[in-house]
Amino acid sequence: MKRINEVMNHQPTIVGPELSLQNNAEPLLDQIEGTVEFRHVSFAYGDREVLHDINIKVEAGSSLAIVGPTGSGKTSLVNLLPRMFDASKGQVLIDNVDVRKIPLALLRRQIGYVPQETFLFSVPLAENISYGVEALSTERLQEIMQSAQLTKDVEDFPEGVTTMVGERGVTLSGGQKQRTSLARAIAKEPAILVLDDAMSSVDTHTEADILKHLQKVMQGRTTIIISHRCSTVKNLDHIVVLDEGRIVEEGTHGALLQLGGLYAEMYRRQLLSEELEDTENGDLFPGR
Ligand SMILES: Nc1ncnc2c1ncn2[C@@H]1O[C@H](COP(=O)(O)OP(=O)(O)OP(=O)(O)O)[C@@H](O)[C@H]1O
Ligand SMILES: [Mg+2]
Repeated sequence: MKRINEVMNHQPTIVGPELSLQNNAEPLLDQIEGTVEFRHVSFAYGDREVLHDINIKVEAGSSLAIVGPTGSGKTSLVNLLPRMFDASKGQVLIDNVDVRKIPLALLRRQIGYVPQETFLFSVPLAENISYGVEALSTERLQEIMQSAQLTKDVEDFPEGVTTMVGERGVTLSGGQKQRTSLARAIAKEPAILVLDDAMSSVDTHTEADILKHLQKVMQGRTTIIISHRCSTVKNLDHIVVLDEGRIVEEGTHGALLQLGGLYAEMYRRQLLSEELEDTENGDLFPGR
């Protein structure tokens, strides 16, 4: 009982404005369009600062890519959006409102986040996909699975979409888990879609198919994609290159190639390693 109470009585450090500003007369945001802005954002784990003075603005409905070597702060940066953590300095804004002033339920409902580490429940596949939303119609579920390129896999499962996931059912492959996680984010129909290295375990052909279908899903949504692969990010509206917690380059794929800096070098290396190893899995940042 003591141990259970410890969990039950734990006070979250992140609370929504509906709790912390109970007597505030200011009306709270009740809808999200999807403009995202990081304004002079720094972030530290304890006293170790891992993001330094980040400035990015993403217009509603447009797309942003974040690339950079491992440990450069990509995950930490997008974690600030659904307020897994709060910025230590500066502001994270959605529709020009500080995220700390947006009701938490609304904020998290409107962000479809595919985390780097997928998390699935030991429940039927369909429930894993519809987690957090009301039950989906059969047609809608099929449509979502098509977008996430899951349809073919599910056909091979013993009981289709009602197949149990996990120990008591089928064990999904890394790529299947990632695509289920993607399907879950799509099912929410969020204003903002965030993919954190969400296709790392998916082969490049499947990834290309997902991206093709994702085009449609991305219509009218703000999309932020973190990836180690150039093929994933090159068609996005804006690319930001992070290194050691700072933005070191930004622009379109074409502009960054012309710049001839870090991104161009990484792209060249990726093409080279593809040729050398004859794999299509070349990593943008090998060996770092
Ligand atoms: N929960 C945490 N507590 C303390 N330090 C952390 C935590 N998570 C990440 N870090 C540190 O913050 C820095 C940035 O990590 P982050 O996970 O944001 O990098 P990343 O760019 O997403 O890397 P990768 O490409 O490997 O996913 C790293 O130095 C890492 O060690
Ligand atoms: Mg990461």
